[in-house]
Amino acid sequence: MRPNTTTARVRNATARRPQRLAAAALAALLAVAPGCTDMYDQPRFEPYEATTLFSDGASSRTLVLGTVPREDVRGLPAVEDRELLLTGLKDGVAAQEPPFAVDRAVLERGKQRYGIYCTPCHGQLGDGRGVIVQRGFTPPPKYTEPRLVDAPLGHFFQVISNGHGAMYSFAARVAPQDRWAIAAYIRALQLSQNAKASELPPEDQSKLQEAVK
Ligand code: HEC
Repeated sequence: MRPNTTTARVRNATARRPQRLAAAALAALLAVAPGCTDMYDQPRFEPYEATTLFSDGASSRTLVLGTVPREDVRGLPAVEDRELLLTGLKDGVAAQEPPFAVDRAVLERGKQRYGIYCTPCHGQLGDGRGVIVQRGFTPPPKYTEPRLVDAPLGHFFQVISNGHGAMYSFAARVAPQDRWAIAAYIRALQLSQNAKASELPPEDQSKLQEAVK
């Protein structure tokens, strides 16, 4: 489509020489003008725009029969259970454990991604009081609700991947390994608000005892 149109333009321009001067002057003017709409207003079809060029009236061509989608595998961690990494499922049900070990770096990453994608609605604490909710969006449940405390990690992975009720899917924005990192961080948020003193590491237990003395 594009090359033909360009050729036609060139042909027209050659045919109308006097106009070329004016066009050149305009081009020079545009070059110094701030911003330039030339790239934006190109002779091209918008997605799904109709055309008479093809007999089916659509400008987009259908994919060749048998085309299979290929997810972008660059940057995916090498894990044993790839299906678990991509679906959140283990033996057909939401998995309890993530497909890779969760260490501090994973939690830090989850915290950072959670801060970017989830806090606007769920809030920093996961209490469902994010700014968007304060301005009227459907309030999400608190992560400390018993049902969510009992939910397997794979459930969070699936909610992020597929969306849930009023919440849209983040599959296109958050890579699978980051969805797991966020899921692990949600678990950390839940624990942070329900922790028993006896579950703390010994040094934190003594700090706590110092603090309440
Ligand atoms: C635009 C607001 C919004 C954003 C952003 C958002 N959520 Fe939600 N989330 C909701 C709402 C609303 C619900 C409740 C949906 C319902 O029950 O209809 C929800 C529900 C949930 C639930 C509970 C599902 C259940 O079983 O009840 C989890 C877990 C969750 N979100 C995780 C996340 C994570 C993780 C992110 C970031 C990757 C995120 N959400 C981003 C609005 C949002």
